[in-house]
Amino acid sequence: MADKTTTGTTATATDLMQAARKVRENAYAPYSNFKVGAAIRAASGRVYTGVNVENVAYPEGTCAEAGAIAAMIAAGDTVIEEVAVIADSPTPVPCCGGCRQKLNEFGAGDVPVTMGTLTGATLTLTLAEILPGRFDAGHMDSAATKAR
Ligand code: THU
Repeated sequence: MADKTTTGTTATATDLMQAARKVRENAYAPYSNFKVGAAIRAASGRVYTGVNVENVAYPEGTCAEAGAIAAMIAAGDTVIEEVAVIADSPTPVPCCGGCRQKLNEFGAGDVPVTMGTLTGATLTLTLAEILPGRFDAGHMDSAATKAR
């Protein structure tokens, strides 16, 4: 995988990262102390944001990307065109494995995902690049045939 770490991005991606950076301040992360912000640009052009929301029962916490996806779906958008995620990490914060699968539910393989740090480093990869060999509906084809 090519190293695409940069200190600058396109104007569009910068806007989305700015939205993620701003919403990150509202993250609820008293247990990890690791605040994450995410922003999604949907096909309508609207931007949806989300933060991680932790819980004293640790597995009940949710990721920033999941929050942004939930906001998007609640508002009636269903197609992701671009993603930005940011945290105070030494290198651009990668989406966790579960969030990669969640994003793939609504985004095509060529959707750019820009991961960032508070100091301004970014890494842009596509959804296909961050989730190679993804599980999709096609893998259930034989199960569907048997159900008939
Ligand atoms: N986290 C996210 O919000 N998104 C990711 O993709 C990586 C991890 C959150 C979950 C948890 O609240 C904290 O970061 C530490 O794992």
